[in-house]
Amino acid sequence: MSEQHVQPDASQPRHGSDSAEASSATAYPAAHTDGPKRVRTRHFQQAKHEGHKITGLTSYDQLTARIFDEAGIDFLLVGDSAANNVLGYGTTLPVTVEELIPLTRAVAGAVTRAFVIADMPFGSYENGPEDALHTAVRFMKETGAHAVKLEGGERSHKQIRRIVSAGIPVMAHIGFTPQSEHGLGGHLIQGRGDGVAQLLADARSVQEAGAFAVVLEMIPADTARQITTALDIPTISVGAGPECDGQLLVWTDWAGFTIGRVPKFVKQYAQLADILSDAATRWRADVASGNYPGPEHSYE
Ligand code: KIV
Repeated sequence: MSEQHVQPDASQPRHGSDSAEASSATAYPAAHTDGPKRVRTRHFQQAKHEGHKITGLTSYDQLTARIFDEAGIDFLLVGDSAANNVLGYGTTLPVTVEELIPLTRAVAGAVTRAFVIADMPFGSYENGPEDALHTAVRFMKETGAHAVKLEGGERSHKQIRRIVSAGIPVMAHIGFTPQSEHGLGGHLIQGRGDGVAQLLADARSVQEAGAFAVVLEMIPADTARQITTALDIPTISVGAGPECDGQLLVWTDWAGFTIGRVPKFVKQYAQLADILSDAATRWRADVASGNYPGPEHSYE
């Protein structure tokens, strides 16, 4: 769903004031020079029907959101993976709505084109459809996000249906669902053997509930292909192979910040941790040796 593939609205306003638009437009090279455009849920559908791939990255702050938006990434997920990647928690389980709201607001406020999706954290929707709607409404009212995401297939059907009935788009998430890490017995590939039928049932269930797209995480490529063929809504792969309708990666993995083993499905497009480490080391040495600040960095 890159720029040459879809023609999102040219008429939609962005978040923030005109002056904010002007200043952000000059911060990085603009990938989109023909005025504001906004990716909508219908463009996800259009991409599937036209066979164009959808791209997504996670983002948790306005700096990366602006860069990814200018690069033409179709959607940004403010994932509950912020738990690990921003807040330093060991899993996604502890992160709260209160912690994710400011991050989501920063991302939604920084983009002009990308579709921004707020991830509903563990404990904020499992209790039932009314709790789920309450959380979704908070994200929509308090952050400027365009949609929400929640985990679970058949078990989350009623929650998805209730949120969608209130006019809020929902991205579903099945396969390996990190919030159920302990129930699933660890970071295990889903949808093998007998698991294929259950995953197909989950995929059909979230589509029937009204989800506009579904994330398939860590499932065999052939299972993902079957689901993609069976569904009318687009499938978004996180480690589910090339035959999904779109691809999503956690930006910190993709950019070389992963500590420890890099998952097999991640392709790293930069080594930013090494670049920052090198910069910090050189700056520290310059300060120690008196090379920084020089006269050009000092006021007369
Ligand atoms: O929080 C997240 O980053 C996610 C993706 C891995 C799908 O849910």
